[in-house]
Amino acid sequence: MHVSFNLASQLDTALKAAAPLAGINADLFKPEVRTADPAHGDYQANGILGYAKQNKANPRALATALVTALPSELTALFEIQVAGPGFINFKLKPESLLEWLRLYGSLKALALGASENRKGERCVIDFGGPNTAKQMHVGHVRSAVIGQALARILAFNGATIVTDNHLGDWGTQFGKLIYAYKRWVNPQAMQNEPIEELERLYKLGSAATPENSAELEEARLELVKLQNGDKENVALWKTFTDISLVAFQKIYDQLGISFDHTLGESFYNDKLTPIYKELIEHKIAEESKGALVVFHPEHPRFKTQPFIVRKSDGAANYATTDLATLLYRVETFQATSIIYVVDKRQSDHFEQLFLTAKAWFSHTNRTLPVLNHVDFGTVLGENGTPLKTREGDNIKLQDLLNEAKQRAFSLVTLKSPDSPEIERTEIANVVGIGSVQYADLSQNRSSDYVFSWDKMISLEGNTAAYLLYAAARIHSIFRKHSIPLDVLEAEKGASALETPTEITLARKLVSFADAVRLAGDTLRPHFLCLYLYELAGSFSAFYTADKVLVEDPAIRDRRLLLCSRTLLVLETGLTLLGLRTLKRM
Ligand code: ARG
Repeated sequence: MHVSFNLASQLDTALKAAAPLAGINADLFKPEVRTADPAHGDYQANGILGYAKQNKANPRALATALVTALPSELTALFEIQVAGPGFINFKLKPESLLEWLRLYGSLKALALGASENRKGERCVIDFGGPNTAKQMHVGHVRSAVIGQALARILAFNGATIVTDNHLGDWGTQFGKLIYAYKRWVNPQAMQNEPIEELERLYKLGSAATPENSAELEEARLELVKLQNGDKENVALWKTFTDISLVAFQKIYDQLGISFDHTLGESFYNDKLTPIYKELIEHKIAEESKGALVVFHPEHPRFKTQPFIVRKSDGAANYATTDLATLLYRVETFQATSIIYVVDKRQSDHFEQLFLTAKAWFSHTNRTLPVLNHVDFGTVLGENGTPLKTREGDNIKLQDLLNEAKQRAFSLVTLKSPDSPEIERTEIANVVGIGSVQYADLSQNRSSDYVFSWDKMISLEGNTAAYLLYAAARIHSIFRKHSIPLDVLEAEKGASALETPTEITLARKLVSFADAVRLAGDTLRPHFLCLYLYELAGSFSAFYTADKVLVEDPAIRDRRLLLCSRTLLVLETGLTLLGLRTLKRM
């Protein structure tokens, strides 16, 4: 028996299989294998406690019997101990650690192991979602960065991923924008800074059309014309969308983000009527003050707070398109799960959407996919209020990315003043952009976070620069001594790990499987960040304590093997998060 990549499942399966031999009813027994406190072992099985209690048995005796019943091939891999009232601790033996290092020595091997987790799942990830004719704001970048990382992590865990950028490209704002455009457009500005010009026009349009004014009525008529397919207005709307897409793409390119589909709200215009029909037919929606709404009697708030699916003027809204979008994703993409990476201020919307979809689908023969709102907090300035420019405007993202690159350039120059400027610039681009991404990813996404250049672009702490540097440093070890990175020779010659720092590092490497799984299962990339940060720390401790290029070939080989695998896991992890990596820094 080999050490498996997914050791927790390997143990789970083995414990279940051995249960009957220890007089345990395998149907009632859940082993509950978890990663353990490293002081006790690598994994811990807690399930005996609950089982013993239910069956009025002595947990320690039962745990001991279960351990005795495990096959010797498995027990050869671990030191096993029954602890406390009846936990079972499993600690990988140094030879097993070495075997793991030998077996999981390529991206392919890691990916193959990890892909066991989500086989058969077809997951649509809805992220990005900026609104056309407006600038993308930092919240949309958060969505894009987190969404991209989740797409890669879940794909690595074996799911088939479809990514969809659900643009806000329809709605009342276009009436006001067209109204303003027709009066006040500055063609020169439209050429040079189109997105800024559209934003200026939209502000003018909003200011010029107060409630109940004749101007508002005119803007509304522009919207009606657009909705009825008026040539001029449709062409204008199309121009606005095209301009926006180009501007968005520039930002996405720098962040290395791409989408399989960019189906905006407008894509669903002709798919809305059947939604009303079905909701009415199944008595899910009702008329209220002229609008079509859905209530959820079982919910404390949504029994009275309506989910408006058609406004009283007959127009569709955000809810309507989201219902149509959901149906489309089920029918066209065969989604078995859908993840919406959207600001937590929209949590009511998604909760109501999910409840409505559940009620609606239960009246049909469609299967409801697993629906998840992956929420995230607001990006705050250092004064604790949402991040804005000093003048109170939205931050221009290009300025933000440029500043990140500039600051990273100073950091890189400080570190390697003698390397050629062109090289420093390239490195700074990777570090700068990576720092912005990593700052977003390393926080628990549900909380607000304070944007701080100094913390973000630093070689100290849980930062992109620290991790990129750790990887680059390992590259330099191999480069300096002209040792091939694949360490095929070293793999054969390596002896079993001995020193505490070697063993700590190897155990950390083995737990990569648990970290990618945890990040995927909880849809929280920060678990992977934390893991990589700890891995870099274990590597650093190892590298300080244990000289790598020693005389004894068996020791040198196993240490080279550790270096090479640390690099592989670091680079794989950073790539899963959506960062680019560096060979030198
Ligand atoms: N355009 C929306 C906004 O800026 C985000 C869209 C999120 N996706 C969705 N299916 N509703 O708030």
